Amino acid sequence: PIISSTAMLQKAREHHYAVAAFNVHTLEMLQAVVDAATEMESPLIIQSTVGTVRHLGAKYLVEAATVAANQSSIPIALHLDHCTEFNLIIECIRAGYTSVMIDASMHPYDENVAITSKVMEIATAAGVNVEAELGKVGGVEDDIVVDEQDALLADPEECLKFVKQTGVLTLAPAIGTAHGIYKGDPHIDFERIEQIAKLVDVPLVLHGGSGIPAEQVKRAVALGMSKMNVATELRIAFSDAIKHIFDENPSENDPRKYMVPAKEAVKQLAIQKIGLCGSAGKA
Ligand code: 13P
Ligand code: ZN
Ligand code: NA
Repeated sequence: PIISSTAMLQKAREHHYAVAAFNVHTLEMLQAVVDAATEMESPLIIQSTVGTVRHLGAKYLVEAATVAANQSSIPIALHLDHCTEFNLIIECIRAGYTSVMIDASMHPYDENVAITSKVMEIATAAGVNVEAELGKVGGVEDDIVVDEQDALLADPEECLKFVKQTGVLTLAPAIGTAHGIYKGDPHIDFERIEQIAKLVDVPLVLHGGSGIPAEQVKRAVALGMSKMNVATELRIAFSDAIKHIFDENPSENDPRKYMVPAKEAVKQLAIQKIGLCGSAGKA
C-alpha cells in the first residue's frame, strides 16, 4: 500500500538526504518515476497538482499509485501538491492520498495558521501528512501564479512559531527558488535554509526543483532540505520526447510507440534527480 510521507521524510531529515517528489500527469509518467526510484532503491513521493486531480481523478491516481506500491519494494507516498481548497483536500484524503499540501501562503500569517490548523486536525486523524508553506514561492504552478516581485522569503523565527502553532510535520519555507525554469541561476538564500533548519526540526521542502544547478541542490539538501519537488523539467522531458517522435514520423499514431521514449526520458531525469537528493539505497 501507499504510506504516509511523515516517517519517510523524518528519516531523510535525520540522515541528511532528501526524498524526491515528482509531479506526474499521466500513467506513463507515474510508472517512469516508480521505475526510477525502484532501480535506485530510493523512497518516493508521487505528487499530483490540483489540475491533475481534475484531469485524471483522485481515485484513479490513488489506485495507480497503490498498484505501483504493491508491486514495488520501495516505500511510496501519494501527495497532493499546492492545494488551496479545503474541499479538494478532503476529497483526496477520502480517496486515499497519504499526504497533502495546504497552500495558504497567499493569506496573511494568522489566516495561514488557522487554515493549516484546520487541515491538520482532519489529516492527522486520517494518518495523512500535511505540508504547509511559509513565505511565497515565486513562479507558475498550475493556477498559482506568483510574480517575482511578490515572491517572499520565509522568516526563520516565524517558521518556528508556525510549526509550534499548527503542529505541521513538514514545512515548505520560501528560500529563493521558483516554480518553472529559471532565467539564469536561482538566487537561493542558503544562510536562510541553515537558520530555519537550526530552529525547526521538521523536514523542510525545496520547491521549484526544476532548473536548480546540481551543486546547489546538494548544498540545500546538506543544509536540511528533506524533500525536493520536481515538476516542470519532467513535463518538458516527456513532451520533448513525444515531439521528437512526431518530427521524425508525423504519421505515427500508436501511443504504445510514442509513449515509450517519453517514459524513458522521464525515468532518466528522475534517476538524475534522485541522485542529487542522495536518497539512493535508502528505501
Ligand atoms: P518546478 O516546476 O520548478 O520543478 O517546481 C516544482 C514544485 O515546486 C511543485 O510543487
Ligand atoms: Zn511547489
Ligand atoms: Na524551478
